[in-house]
Amino acid sequence: MAENKEYVNPDYVPEPDKMNVKKGLEGAVIDTSAVSKVNPDTNSLVYRGYPVQDLAENCRFEEVAYLMYNGELPTAAQLKEFEQKERDYRDISKDCLSVIKTLPKNCHPMDSIRTAVSFLGCEDNRIWDATPTTNLDKAIQLLAKIPTCVAADYRFKKGLDFIPPKKDLTLSENFFHMCFGKIPHADVVKAFDVSLILYAEHSFNASTFTARVVASTESDLYSATVAGIGALKGPLHGGANEQVMHMMLEIADPNKAESWMLEALAMKKKVMGFGHRVYRKGDSRVPTMKKYAMKMADLTGEKKWMQMYEGLEKVMVDKKRIYPNLDFPAGPAYYMMGFEIDFFTPIFVMARTTGWSAHIMEQRSNNRIIRPLSEYVGAEQRTVKPLSERK
Ligand code: COA
Repeated sequence: MAENKEYVNPDYVPEPDKMNVKKGLEGAVIDTSAVSKVNPDTNSLVYRGYPVQDLAENCRFEEVAYLMYNGELPTAAQLKEFEQKERDYRDISKDCLSVIKTLPKNCHPMDSIRTAVSFLGCEDNRIWDATPTTNLDKAIQLLAKIPTCVAADYRFKKGLDFIPPKKDLTLSENFFHMCFGKIPHADVVKAFDVSLILYAEHSFNASTFTARVVASTESDLYSATVAGIGALKGPLHGGANEQVMHMMLEIADPNKAESWMLEALAMKKKVMGFGHRVYRKGDSRVPTMKKYAMKMADLTGEKKWMQMYEGLEKVMVDKKRIYPNLDFPAGPAYYMMGFEIDFFTPIFVMARTTGWSAHIMEQRSNNRIIRPLSEYVGAEQRTVKPLSERK
């Protein structure tokens, strides 16, 4: 059996003037988009023209979801209508619940939500209808049903009964209600809501690009979302928020943060929650999330995670000039809210479904199949020998 490693033809000679490989698509601009803009020079991120920090401080997540889908912030009347629709869609079918319940107890919640979204697609008899109105409706259904699926999985994995959604609660309040059977202090709900707003969208990141590639084949919105979930799960992308918390638990003592980081750097380890492909001078979303993680520390009295945060950040910035990304404050914030660590990335899905849907709809509105090229470095052309002659 051939070893599973990258094969490069030893006779391959790159032709520098012909070679145009952008490994990891770094720096490649592959389409236009009106959904969001990341500006690494000014450390800013705008959703449809609005700075994300302003949205986080002044809006609820539902308003931002409306903005994603429609391009404008809602008026009071528009928000009322939109929220009514979202609340009416929160229920999931008995079949969907039983699919989630049947999944192996030790499967990762990202695998559960990937499966649940796939099942939601199977239940939608308009799956092939990609008209803007139907796709918008599907997007709102996902916004409403994904939290129910995630919370159901949360309860089942703990051996607890499903708590049905309530229509008189905001999306964030309802998620706490479905997970824990109660709604925490308003400041906790606000911190959670802020995290959803900050996680909602980030231009052509890996999962959004994945979703757009699938949408570009004229496949359906559910399939594109499932693909996005698959990409988000990886620790170099959304999965980093879980890894940050595992790392903090491993360090355990804030006084050990600096020595831990020095050792990690000496061993050339990739430290989760640091670095970014686009931002090189810091992630625009971090100050807002850090502020709310600090509030969580005040509310819970659990100061050690944010003390550890400071220690780790100090060494990484001093030694490498590499800054925290959003997953760094989000990890401990979710932990202090009481969520199990492996649910951090599914929470990210609850937020990012808005950005994915906006991009899927944008892709379909002016579509061209996404099909890049590669530079071939494999074997020269050769003849197939009959089986008996092969050695
Ligand atoms: N820890 C340690 N070193 C890091 C680092 C990290 N988290 N992120 C980047 N670096 C270093 C790389 O080792 C590399 O150093 P080198 O030039 O000496 O080899 C340099 O910074 C450039 O990094 P690179 O891996 O080329 O960046 P990228 O754009 O390909 O990758 C990430 C970006 C986000 C995937 C990468 O920073 C990473 O793996 N971070 C940790 C995972 C994470 O937090 N992901 C969430 C992103 S929002």
